[in-house]
Amino acid sequence: MKITRYTRMNMKYRAITKKCKAMIIAMVTALAIVMSASVTAAGDAAKGQEVAAGICAGCHNPDGNSIIPANPILAGQHVEYIIKQLMDFKSGEGESPNRESAIMGPMVASLTQQDIENLAAFYAKQKPESAGNVTDNESYLEMGKRLYHGGNIDNGVPACASCHGPSGAGIPPHYPAVAGQHAEYTFIQLNLFNEGKRINDKGVMQKVVTRMNGEEERAVAEYIQSMDAPQ
Ligand code: HEC
Ligand code: HEC
Repeated sequence: MKITRYTRMNMKYRAITKKCKAMIIAMVTALAIVMSASVTAAGDAAKGQEVAAGICAGCHNPDGNSIIPANPILAGQHVEYIIKQLMDFKSGEGESPNRESAIMGPMVASLTQQDIENLAAFYAKQKPESAGNVTDNESYLEMGKRLYHGGNIDNGVPACASCHGPSGAGIPPHYPAVAGQHAEYTFIQLNLFNEGKRINDKGVMQKVVTRMNGEEERAVAEYIQSMDAPQ
């Protein structure tokens, strides 16, 4: 009797260890798959730099710290966001791209997925520099700061900080860094979202900006430019 009970328990124990082993193997395999995926997804920044120097530097500066107000600063932006935007600028045959741009469309047309990952790796590694405060209207900075951090309950605008972070560093992979970006570029994008001409945000930004008035858009864009670049 004693022996059978022991044997039964032993068998049960063995079955449990077998299950555990299978689980551990499954977990290790899953981890290995995740890790190898991140290795293949990681772009080669040195190769990215070569393409950037050849095609992109004239507009975004060699290190991605664009000095032209309508051209975005790319330095320090999240890898995933850059990849998404470059893919969104691309259009399939006879289809319109997710993000329409007369300038960027032709730039990405001949880039491969690998080029795009390399470029993203390169720009994400560059140290961003804030475009800096250039406002000639100090009241905009006040209004922009209030909106950015607290939103506006009167018209239901949510705080930008809730998605783009209190320091404007964004939250990867979905929420881009915005701090220090050129006010002109930001203002243009807010208008494009507002008019439904930039629609690659799944309606998230559109819901935010359609509640804002033009003065609020301008104010928050100027405040964002005055913020320190994310470190
Ligand atoms: C002729 C100037 C020009 C060149 C060359 C150029 N860009 Fe751009 N880029 C722009 C402009 C302007 C925008 C804003 C596009 C818009 O929304 O209409 C932009 C937007 C972008 C964005 C989106 C950034 C964001 O914050 O959403 C990325 C990423 C980008 N460019 C990467 C590149 C890369 C990589 C190259 C080279 C392969 C390149 N650009 C070449 C002018 C240029
Ligand atoms: C609920 C989340 C959320 C809130 C709140 C939010 N954003 Fe965004 N924002 C996003 C997402 C997501 C994107 C990226 C869309 C994409 O993938 O192209 C984005 C993109 C942007 C861009 C484009 C960045 C670029 O480099 O092109 C700007 C500018 C921006 N947001 C400004 C703001 C401002 C200003 C506010 C506050 C008034 C705000 N956002 C509030 C989620 C949010």
